[in-house]
Amino acid sequence: MFGKIEAVGAYLPPKVLTNADLEKLVDTSDEWIRKRTGIRERRIAEGEYTSDLAVKALYSALEEGGIEREELDLIIVATITPDYFTMPSTATLVAGKMGLQIPALDISAACSGFIYGLSIANSYLRAGIYKKVAVIGAEVLSRIVNWQDRRTCVLFGDGAGAVILGPTGEWEEAIWDVEIGADGRYQDYLITPGRGVRYGCETDRLFLEMKGNETFKVAVKTLSQSVRSILERNNLTPDEVDHFIPHQANYRIIDAVARGIGLPKEKVVLTVDKYGNTSSASIPTALYDSHKEGRFKKGDLLLLDAFGGGFTWGSALVKWGIGG
Ligand code: UT7
Repeated sequence: MFGKIEAVGAYLPPKVLTNADLEKLVDTSDEWIRKRTGIRERRIAEGEYTSDLAVKALYSALEEGGIEREELDLIIVATITPDYFTMPSTATLVAGKMGLQIPALDISAACSGFIYGLSIANSYLRAGIYKKVAVIGAEVLSRIVNWQDRRTCVLFGDGAGAVILGPTGEWEEAIWDVEIGADGRYQDYLITPGRGVRYGCETDRLFLEMKGNETFKVAVKTLSQSVRSILERNNLTPDEVDHFIPHQANYRIIDAVARGIGLPKEKVVLTVDKYGNTSSASIPTALYDSHKEGRFKKGDLLLLDAFGGGFTWGSALVKWGIGG
């Protein structure tokens, strides 16, 4: 038995924050942000928290797939902005809000969280342990961003995306492979130091901090290596990939990776212009947008690729199994 993506959904909060809005907050410009990142605007959650966004994304996926919520066996939420640090987990809150008493767990793998979630869900399905697993990437990054720091506040946005995985015997609609990795030597490059027991109340460093330039270089190198590795171990060439759905941190990173492995622009899915970097939500929301635009055909080969704080990374090869 293999794992299959049976449904995809998303929820983006309605409030739009444009680059022009940011010009009023910090010393920046629309031109700088667009040129250096490709971002034009991002969404901001108002009066809603990560579990609220996650619930809406999951309901969207259930509706898309014609699946009843009672069919779910397990909920996985990838997030670095849980409603509560420590407990209860956001996944537990999601299950509770949906009236479900089923296993629920959070994953902390920063922007790679969705791929990590896919890896776990896929393994449960392949092992025959569960039949319907929801993997949600949900973030309210606007709450951990320092709105006075122009080096970071222009980059991030809020949102949630969800997929529901089920079992299939058909290889041509299955998740072919998921590869994940981590390297803790880079822990200081992307960090929120003051949100755990290490510094706790002894620091005012409560917001996300990033060594942007250094992170950029490691991101391009690691993402390219990860993509090459997953293609090689599946005896595939980049030509055989129909769609490349990378983590949406910066257009220049995506472009460098795509060029490096020889994937033409037409195959690259981009949402960074309208949503910014939504961390674990970026890949599932991109999947949902592309699906709604009718971009994927049943049987298309999708290559997913993510990189984030830790550092962590992950890639996946997915045969699209939705549609006629
Ligand atoms: O999602 C997880 C992984 N995250 C990433 O992969 C993000 C990786 N990093 C990046 O995307 C880019 O490094 C950034 C977009 C964060 C920054 O772009 P950069 O081309 O690496 O710029 P930089 O940090 O080298 O800064 C260049 C200049 C600096 O000014 P000086 O020192 O040259 O005078 C910055 O102070 O740009 C300045 N700057 C800004 N100017 C206007 C930095 N942020 C801004 C800003 N507006 N918002």
